[in-house]
Amino acid sequence: MPFLGIKHLAAEHLNSAVELDRLCFGGLWTIEGYRRELDSPNSDLLGLWTWETEGSESAHNQAGTHHPPLLQIRGRTHHPPPLQVPPILIGIGCLWVILEEAHITILAIDPRFQGQGLGQALLWTLLKSAHRRQLERATLEVRASNLVALSLYHKFGFKEAGRRKRYYADTGEDAAILWRSDIEKPEFQQYLANQKVKICDRLQQKNWQGSIDSFEL
Ligand SMILES: CC(C)(COP(=O)(O)OP(=O)(O)OC[C@H]1O[C@@H](n2cnc3c(N)ncnc32)[C@H](O)[C@@H]1OP(=O)(O)O)[C@@H](O)C(=O)NCCC(=O)NCCS
Repeated sequence: MPFLGIKHLAAEHLNSAVELDRLCFGGLWTIEGYRRELDSPNSDLLGLWTWETEGSESAHNQAGTHHPPLLQIRGRTHHPPPLQVPPILIGIGCLWVILEEAHITILAIDPRFQGQGLGQALLWTLLKSAHRRQLERATLEVRASNLVALSLYHKFGFKEAGRRKRYYADTGEDAAILWRSDIEKPEFQQYLANQKVKICDRLQQKNWQGSIDSFEL
């Protein structure tokens, strides 16, 4: 089974982050943009990784274990253990702290791994960080046509507060402005705990190992 982990990105991960950004957004931020986030105490720049351990069977396409060729030694066939694949960055999420608000600026999952509950795991972690930082609200802008992202944010209690007309220069599309309030309240902690159970169940159904609360900010 493949494992999952979420932690802050470091300088050595930035090339992978830019590659993922290119895949998911067509190149939203440059490497300098990501580097600025690393240097800022008011940003959380998170990565979601997957890796395989020796002997684990991959149910997950291209992140799977590499099986080395069989060896012939003195006429006998040997089955070397699978090589351990180093962690692969398959998700990125970022928030900026502006006064008492968490501005979610990036949320992306590698297209090969979408639809398995990973986007919600990463969003959950960003919101947990916002709660820990005692921020009051979370906000973001998203393309009005991005129904998958809108559905994800609505699931987490985000509400549309308005639109920025023709905000995206490439298509002239509107941005929907979403807000999630009350994240500093004690009840939000219980909400996060309930969500965590659902998210972990979903990940387990999809054969992912590891728990999202193994990540402690
Ligand atoms: C938006 C994004 C992060 C979602 O990640 P994901 O891992 O695919 O999402 P999840 O599997 O965690 O699904 C979470 C919820 O999103 C919605 N969703 C996911 N896939 C969907 C689909 N194909 N159709 C409709 N809704 C969908 C659902 O509400 C889903 O909850 P449910 O499965 O309980 O119904 C991912 O699609 C992505 O990286 N898109 C490109 C970048 C982007 O648009 N980012 C958001 C803008 S900031």
